[in-house]
Amino acid sequence: MTEVPILKIEHLGHDYGKFQVIDDISLEIPAGELTALIGPNGAGKTTFYNVVSGRFPPTRGRVYFNGQDITGRQAHKIVSLGMLRSFQITNIFPELSVRENVLIPLLLHHHRGFALFRSLGREKKLYREADEVLDKIGISHYADRPARELAYGDKRLVEMAIVLARNPRLVLLDEPTAGMNPEETDRMITLIKQLAEQFGTTFFLTEHDMKVVFSIAKRIFVLHQGGLLATGSPEEIRTNPQVREAYLGGETIQC
Ligand SMILES: Nc1ncnc2c1ncn2[C@@H]1O[C@H](COP(=O)(O)OP(=O)(O)OP(=O)(O)O)[C@@H](O)[C@H]1O
Ligand SMILES: [Mg+2]
Repeated sequence: MTEVPILKIEHLGHDYGKFQVIDDISLEIPAGELTALIGPNGAGKTTFYNVVSGRFPPTRGRVYFNGQDITGRQAHKIVSLGMLRSFQITNIFPELSVRENVLIPLLLHHHRGFALFRSLGREKKLYREADEVLDKIGISHYADRPARELAYGDKRLVEMAIVLARNPRLVLLDEPTAGMNPEETDRMITLIKQLAEQFGTTFFLTEHDMKVVFSIAKRIFVLHQGGLLATGSPEEIRTNPQVREAYLGGETIQC
């Protein structure tokens, strides 16, 4: 029996008004496979994520998550099915502590109201869960610090903790290492690999840093001018002449 792909996209297209941004994208991602979506600036990567995650309904095509047709569903409903995403720009509550940043999605996950937030002292179980998530990410030592005080790379780890708190099956990461220094980038690469291996989370990420892409992804999709140009292993993509031409002006992809 063939396994149902965690994500299946059929002929997906999206227009902003009259401007066609992505078109006729079809792809499948098996559960557990680390996959990347690459392409030059403006190729439509973020738009693709926005449409897949329900931020905008697609203009054309269908999206299946774990065999279920989720085309046009609202973003929060898609989240509750287990597909989460991070944003290209860091998205945390700077004034809250790192632990509180993780408690919010946990409250939502367990369908508890925000009123409870004030009496969280009694919510020991949620605290424990939050601390477990921070442990997974390796930032429990920052639990009581206001998120705004953290270095940029650590803030992005908090964002990862917020995503993982909801126990996702599929995580769409939009440029998870953007703006990071080499050390922070290496830490993020190791973390993504570890999380995928230990918890079976499927990660599908966009990246400009080819070092990250080639060291994480088992399979790469290349987006060019809104359409899918190529699919393959890192080696196939690295040596694909069409990709080199379209994506990097004919130069060999460096990593
Ligand atoms: N809300 C919007 N309304 C109109 N046009 C948009 C909107 N968002 C993006 N675009 C346009 O759609 C195209 C694709 O943008 P998108 O952000 O999806 O690309 P990207 O591949 O994520 O680029 P980058 O690598 O710079 O993040 C661009 O030409 C962009 O200007
Ligand atoms: Mg983008």
